[in-house]
Amino acid sequence: MAFDLMKLPYSYDALEPYMSAETLQYHHDKHHQAYVDMLNKLLPGSGFEGLSLEEIVKASYGKNQAVFNNAGQDFNHNNFWPWMKKGGGGKKVPGSVLALIDRDLGGFDKFREAFIEAGKTQFGSGWCWLTMKDGKLAVTKTPTAFHIAAATVSSPPPAAVVNSPGSLRIPSMALSAYRNAERMMAAA
Ligand SMILES: [Fe+2]
Repeated sequence: MAFDLMKLPYSYDALEPYMSAETLQYHHDKHHQAYVDMLNKLLPGSGFEGLSLEEIVKASYGKNQAVFNNAGQDFNHNNFWPWMKKGGGGKKVPGSVLALIDRDLGGFDKFREAFIEAGKTQFGSGWCWLTMKDGKLAVTKTPTAFHIAAATVSSPPPAAVVNSPGSLRIPSMALSAYRNAERMMAAA
């Protein structure tokens, strides 16, 4: 079964002035589409056919780098788009999340600074995340297609993502850094 590029949940100009319609269209229609196309090309005969996208990300980690990269990037972007919306951004974070940001990260401004810094210091392509681990929020980053979900199957888990084996970080916000040319903060 071939995967389809997910439809954006808003129009191309919905994220202006933070992300131009041209950037969004390019990022979704070309960049994200390319991962979906490559994944569909790589799947036949890979042994991962018939699995869900998340299952492919987990099963291919450490076993098939090309499938993992493309499935991981498709999965990451599928999560990424719905985390943004027209009129979003700023400090309009749900109160329950804001309370955790205050408690664990020293307040919204410090969190914002740490999140932007993580994006700026992610060399090349990659992602930075606002994650929950052991009941505590943290800002972290991962290279290329790596998704937090893959940490559950890697052994040992990458230190950047999981600090102790078996523990899981749950992503709740992400930033896609693409060759340092595009940086987007996703805020629900
Ligand atoms: Fe991207």
